[in-house]
Amino acid sequence: MNSNLKIEIKPVTPPEVPAISALAREIWQATYPGIITQEQIDFMLEQRYGHERLYDDLEDAHKWLDQAFHAGRRVGFAFSEEYKGEFKLDKLYIHPDVQRRGVGGQLIEHVAARAKKLGYPCVILQVNKRNVNAINSYKKYGFAVRTSTVDDIGGGFVMDDYVMEKKL
Ligand SMILES: CC(C)(COP(=O)(O)OP(=O)(O)OC[C@H]1O[C@@H](n2cnc3c(N)ncnc32)[C@H](O)[C@@H]1OP(=O)(O)O)[C@@H](O)C(=O)NCCC(=O)NCCS
Repeated sequence: MNSNLKIEIKPVTPPEVPAISALAREIWQATYPGIITQEQIDFMLEQRYGHERLYDDLEDAHKWLDQAFHAGRRVGFAFSEEYKGEFKLDKLYIHPDVQRRGVGGQLIEHVAARAKKLGYPCVILQVNKRNVNAINSYKKYGFAVRTSTVDDIGGGFVMDDYVMEKKL
């Protein structure tokens, strides 16, 4: 197995929004065909990574948008938030070129440290039930399935997810 990549974690700033949006599309297109339809991919990208949506997220005091750089290249991002009284890892996406080299794990630890500092007992997340690689990586970093959920996200689409939690 490859050793962990050395990364630098920095907050996303407004001028970087287009680059984050483009990186999300690239990673989603490499991940979700076969898990959800192309129509749902396009719908969710617009809903979650549209520029206006990301600018709004950056202004929200209950959300943190972190990005990872390796050798000056943006290789992934992790968004976390205070959500309904809990701390949620809302998005974790690593470029396919550098997956399985510890970048996701380092971002999870970064987010978990923030949650702990804020006094939360655990970090939660939602993951598509068919996204086996992601589920396995979350298990590797201490998450366990709490429950499952089917959420109507509009546009005639649902998210068929596990809710996982990592105790801190
Ligand atoms: C899931 C993801 C965030 C994990 O981050 P990562 O940097 O690749 O993972 P790490 O190197 O920290 O951890 C590796 C573990 O993840 C799992 N994993 C990640 N990619 C995998 C792959 N392509 N095949 C099999 N297992 C994989 C394995 O459990 C692996 O452990 P192992 O190498 O000891 O077997 C990343 O692969 C990713 O962005 N995937 C595509 C997008 C996605 O599904 N995001 C999560 C949405 S909820």
